Amino acid sequence: MFIAHISDLHIGDADKPGIANLNKIVRCINSMDILPEAVLVTGDLIHLRQKKHYEACFTELNKLKMPYFTIVGNHDEPNQLKEALAMYCPAHPKSEMKDYLQYVVDDYPVRIIALDTYAEKHPNGILNDEKLEWLREKLENNPDKKPVLLMIHQFTLKTKLSFFDSYAEEWFGKFNELAARHEDTIKLIACGHLHNSLIGSVGKIPMISTFSTNWQAYFDFKPREYLTANKLPVGFYLHRFDGEKFMSYVVAVPRECA
Ligand SMILES: [Fe+2]
Repeated sequence: MFIAHISDLHIGDADKPGIANLNKIVRCINSMDILPEAVLVTGDLIHLRQKKHYEACFTELNKLKMPYFTIVGNHDEPNQLKEALAMYCPAHPKSEMKDYLQYVVDDYPVRIIALDTYAEKHPNGILNDEKLEWLREKLENNPDKKPVLLMIHQFTLKTKLSFFDSYAEEWFGKFNELAARHEDTIKLIACGHLHNSLIGSVGKIPMISTFSTNWQAYFDFKPREYLTANKLPVGFYLHRFDGEKFMSYVVAVPRECA
């Protein structure tokens, strides 16, 4: 099966052509020769937690021909996003946790587990003990060893990009340890947040940050306080699951200029 993976839509950022680029990417996914069976949206749907922007965001996402599954980024807020999903995408899976957006999708050959790292004033989020325990239970309660794909907003490895590493949180280690203990079943960790593609691994599990649909970040290795946009195309990943492992393809899409 093919799964498209988009992220960091940041709708409502007045300086960026978020809707125009998202529209291009939605049209690109809908017109692929082999239609993906699902789309992962790994957080930061809107820019500044102003919920009025969800309407335009979901108007675009609802043009997708296949189901999509979203998680919370540090620019969303879980209860706001849950309300918006209830309003604009009522078929979306419901959260299994009261104050968080965490859920499991079991309709495909790979089990999708969606995680919520939102924590106010923590750009790199927090996966607190309650959320980690929920994940541990989901991973351990898998007697048939069904393959698993985890969706999580932050890339939980040191990137050597000072903007992101300066916010590194201690939960990264706890999450990575738990995931590595299940490297026999977890086949992919799908992330966003970095506004560019980065690939690492947790144990034997590939961890992939996909591009932002809105603007791509300039990566360099010098200390910098703000993330700056480069002029390259935006895009997304297409993950192909063959029953045992994933193969991941980059799809670049010409961007609208800011
Ligand atoms: Fe983010």
